[in-house]
Formats: sequence, structure tokens, C-alpha cells
Amino acid sequence: MLNLQDIVAGYGGSTVLQGMSLHVAPGEAVALLGRNGMGKTTTVRVIFGLLRAAQGRVTVAGRDMTGAAPFAVARAGLGLVPEGRQIFPNLTVDENLIATARPGPWTLARVHELFPRLAERRRHAGNQLSGGEQQMLAIGRALMTNPRLLVLDEATEGLAPLIRAEIWSCLSRLRAEGMAILVVDKDLRALSALVDRLVVIERGQPVWQGDSAALAADPTVQERFLHV
Ligand SMILES: Nc1ncnc2c1ncn2[C@@H]1O[C@H](COP(=O)(O)OP(=O)(O)OP(=O)(O)O)[C@@H](O)[C@H]1O
Ligand SMILES: [Mg+2]
Repeated sequence: MLNLQDIVAGYGGSTVLQGMSLHVAPGEAVALLGRNGMGKTTTVRVIFGLLRAAQGRVTVAGRDMTGAAPFAVARAGLGLVPEGRQIFPNLTVDENLIATARPGPWTLARVHELFPRLAERRRHAGNQLSGGEQQMLAIGRALMTNPRLLVLDEATEGLAPLIRAEIWSCLSRLRAEGMAILVVDKDLRALSALVDRLVVIERGQPVWQGDSAALAADPTVQERFLHV
């Protein structure tokens, strides 16, 4: 579904990704882990055409999407829940959901059913929502683009425990329905319960990968790369 190969990218003179490679198979759920500043968000930006890679290749569903514009990446089947949510503050909940929608099984009614809170607040402006509601809206908006791979950068950061639990359970439901997921978060336990595979990056390249059992069995990975 998604393949990144030997990506080199950065900002101005500083190189952040130094040979970043990653793949997500159709229907697979993958976690991207690493300490602050290691290049998780930069990886997401390259995937979505928000930052141009100096080297390397991005393919989506077998098609070369290196350097493609964000709308083309969305059209190829990728949906983004960005770091910081970035919902439209002056649009209502429903307007946010419709703004970038594309035809497919995910409709307003289905997003309302997934997140009843959004249905209740459908006529409220984005800037009147709580952080948790904003994250639900960011997820709903990405689903309305009818992606085959949903990418979440900091899925639950800054949210209250109950809301976090709701987001994780929503993601596990999406996964059970066959949605491929690439998720960045700091909650190792929740990630381990959700995903098929975890990838740890350090200074812009993958340094470890495995399933949750392999991670649990190897505490040195957590000490060296995650400081937990
Ligand atoms: N717009 C930018 N301009 C210049 N440097 C940047 C920019 N965005 C990020 N960086 C730098 O690139 C490096 C990687 O940042 P990135 O946001 O990809 O890390 P991250 O793994 O997502 O971290 P976090 O866990 O804090 O979200 C950091 O050193 C950061 O300071
Ligand atoms: Mg980040």
C-alpha cells in the first residue's frame, strides 16, 4: 500500500531523514516510534507531498508518488490525521468533514455513527470543540476522503484518558474493517495492542522493527531508542 525507500529529506541545510525506509501492506497496521525530533513527522510530510525528498522513492499502491502534490497522494488512497489536528476553525463540524471529502463508503452519516459526539456538535464551529472532539473531527475528515491507508501523527497526544480510549477503540474497529493504518503515538501499550508491527526510528532512519511480542521481549530496544 505504501513504500518509502531510502528517503533523504530535511529543512534548509539540515538533513533529518537519512535513508528512511518503511512499508505498509494493504490492511496492515504499523506503528512508527522514536524519541522527539527523530523524524516521525518529517516522514509523514514526505509521504503526503508536504515536504520534498532530496533522494529516495515513495510509492503508493505500486505507483510512484515521489514528489507528488498532497491532493494526488490523497487521491491515490492515503488519508492524513496531522500532528496538531489542523481542522478549519471557522467551519462547522459538518463543513470540516465535507471540505475534502471524496466519494466512497465513508459518508457523513457513517462518521456521525462512528463519533456520536460529532453528530451532536455538527453545527458548532471547529474552534468551539474540545481537543478530543477536534481529534475525532480530524479522524472523521480523513475518513471522508475514503482512504485505504489512514496515517495518524500523534493519534492521542494531549487528550484525556477517556478520549484516548475512545480513539484507540475507533482505530481497532477501523483495522478490523480492513483499513491499513500507520500511526505515530507515544503510548506503547495501546500501540502494541493495535498494530501488527512496530518500527523504531533514530535520527531519521529505521533502527528496529518487530511485533509487540518482540518489543516486549527486548527491553534494550525501549531503553536505547525510546527511553521508557
Ligand atoms: N519546519 C522545520 N524547519 C526546520 N527544522 C524542522 C522543521 N520541522 C522539524 N524540524 C526539525 O527536524 C527534526 C525532526 O523533526 P520531526 O518533527 O520530524 O520529529 P518528530 O519525530 O515528529 O518529533 P516529535 O516526537 O517531537 O513530534 C527536529 O530536529 C526538528 O527540530
Ligand atoms: Mg512529530
